This record gives sequence, structure tokens and C-alpha cells, in this order.
Amino acid sequence: MAEFHSKIKTIEWKGEYSRMVDQTRLPEHFEYVDIKTGDEMFDAIKTMIVRGAPAIGVAGAHGVALYAQELEKENLSREEFVKKLFEKADYMASSRPTAVNLMWAVKKQKDLIKNSESDIKGIVEELKRNGIKLENEDVAINKKIGDYGAQIVPKGAAILTHCNAGALATVGYGTALGVVRSAFANDKTVKVFADETRPRQQGARITTLELTMDGIPTTLITDGMCSYFMKKGMIDLVVVGADRIAANGDAANKIGTYTVAIAAKYHNIPFYVAAPLSTIDTSIKTGNEIVIEERSREEVTHINGKIICAPEVNIINPGFDVTPHELITGIITEKGILRPDYKKSIAEAFAG
Ligand code: MRU
Repeated sequence: MAEFHSKIKTIEWKGEYSRMVDQTRLPEHFEYVDIKTGDEMFDAIKTMIVRGAPAIGVAGAHGVALYAQELEKENLSREEFVKKLFEKADYMASSRPTAVNLMWAVKKQKDLIKNSESDIKGIVEELKRNGIKLENEDVAINKKIGDYGAQIVPKGAAILTHCNAGALATVGYGTALGVVRSAFANDKTVKVFADETRPRQQGARITTLELTMDGIPTTLITDGMCSYFMKKGMIDLVVVGADRIAANGDAANKIGTYTVAIAAKYHNIPFYVAAPLSTIDTSIKTGNEIVIEERSREEVTHINGKIICAPEVNIINPGFDVTPHELITGIITEKGILRPDYKKSIAEAFAG
């Protein structure tokens, strides 16, 4: 299968610190920021300097390594070091609540600490190495997702996507946009419709940037336009990412995804979710158990620092919604495309 490289490395361990693209500054400024302490990493995740489920997973793993480096300087006993580091790791995992990749990656670091027989210095080194391993694995997994996904993209397809599940939401290739990249590598007539994705406009600010950087034809539409283009026959399939998928296939993704899925069902358009197995939370039976992040009122009341509504109006700002499994045609993972019955196909993917 031909491979199409994204030019972006979103997050990378640099010996003693973590370097990441500052996504709050996109698209005007493509800048890197160096995160040197655990608390800085907590804030980077919370304020969405780094965002997207797999990217914040890797960020969380780097964050635990940063806390370990700091605690190493405190002359603690090994026992005290491990106790304090566990508390810091749990704190890191609480920086955002919905994307399970964050908890998954922090748990990987905690398991490493639990199983390590090294001294403090050794544990710190192992945590750093594990962060790098997770970076490399993320890119490899995304390429597999891309290649499986490319098989369901018809020739010349117009693919609608919501939010940003691309190189900038991962370490460097993307899940939903990994499918786009792999499809485009084989067929240069593939094109993308990108939903703007209010309130934080990840579709407009980030998806259009990374796709046009790679020369992939992209049309930006506002969130309310998707059914208009579906009715006109201009969308062939939908591919989105996910932040957490329950054992029955219900999938949480950026707010507005559910609306797109309903519109796709009505127009008989296939709706796919592309995600690594680390996004599947088999500890929860259905999407009703997924904690939905509530974000600030300013994200809705303001655009680029300018108020766009009556200042006193009521605001509710859930960051994610849950698409019921009945609306999902398939879940594209590194182990292949899972189909309904998801309870069964997800259980099999984890068993095999
Ligand atoms: O709030 P964000 O920007 O972190 O939300 C990101 C999304 O909803 C993505 O679609 C999801 O994390 C999948 S990323 C491969």
C-alpha cells in the first residue's frame, strides 16, 4: 500500500523535556513550545496547547516523566518517590476527562513504575523511554488504521470529517485523516469536506491547515451545512475520530459529531469512526457512562477575543457528544475494521 507522509510531528520527547506544536496559535502561527515541568504539561493539556485523544495520551506519558525528573531532585526514599509520583500521575490524568487515551497512557507509566526493579534514576530513564515508545507506536498504529481505512474509500470519494483527527491530534499521521492520507496516496482524486467545528474551530483552524500542507484538496464548510451537501450527493462517506468508545460501540467525539451521524444515516451515507484500540474503553458498557467535558462560556460567547452575543445570555458548552453505535457503519482500528455487532467485534479485537 502506498504511503503518504504528513510533514508534522505534533509532540516529541527531546531528552529532558517535551516539545509540541502550540495548537492554540494555529493557523496564523505554526510554533513549537517546550514543556519542561509536569505542571506545565497539565496546563498544556487543559488549555489545549496539545489536543486530540492520542496526542494528549502521549502528552500525559511525557508529563509523568517530567514529574519523575522533578521528584528525582528531592532526595526522597524510593518508596516516597513512588508514592508521590503516583499522586502526580493521577493529577495528570485529570487534566481532561473525556479522551480515555490520556488515562490509558498514564496507566502505562504507572504500570511501568509498579513493575520496575530499578532505582529512582533508573525509573526516570524508563519513563522517558516509554514516552518515546508510545510516540513511535502511535504513528505506526495510525498508518495501519490509514491503510485499513483506505480500503473503504471509493475512487474519487468526497470524505466529510468533523473536528481534527489528524496529524495534529496524534503524534504525526492521524486517525480519520490517516484514512484520508492513505486513500490519497493511492488515488489523487480523493477530496475532503471539513466541518468548521464550533466552538473552537479545530476543523477550520487545524484540519484545513494540515491537509492543505499535504496538498490534499479540502473544502471548508460551516457545521450547519453538512446535510445540505449530503442531499446534493456531494458527500460519499464520513470519517471521524473518537475520544472514547464504549464496549457496545457508542463513540464520543467532538460536539456536533452526533448531528453529522444522524444526517449521514438519513441520506444513506456510510459513517465510520477511525480510532486506535487505546480509545476503546471496555470497562464501560455504553456511551451513557462517558464523562462529557464542560468547557468555558467564553468559547461560545467569543470568537477571536470578540463577543458575538448578548453578554448575559445563558451558555452551556459540552465539549463532546456520543454517537450511538446504531449510526456507525464501522470502527477502523489497527486490527482491522470492526463491524456490528460491536459488543462481539470489540471483544474479539481485544482477545486476538
Ligand atoms: O477537544 P479536542 O480538540 O481535543 O477534541 C478532539 C476530537 O474530538 C478528535 O476528533 C478526537 O480526539 C480524535 S483525535 C484522533
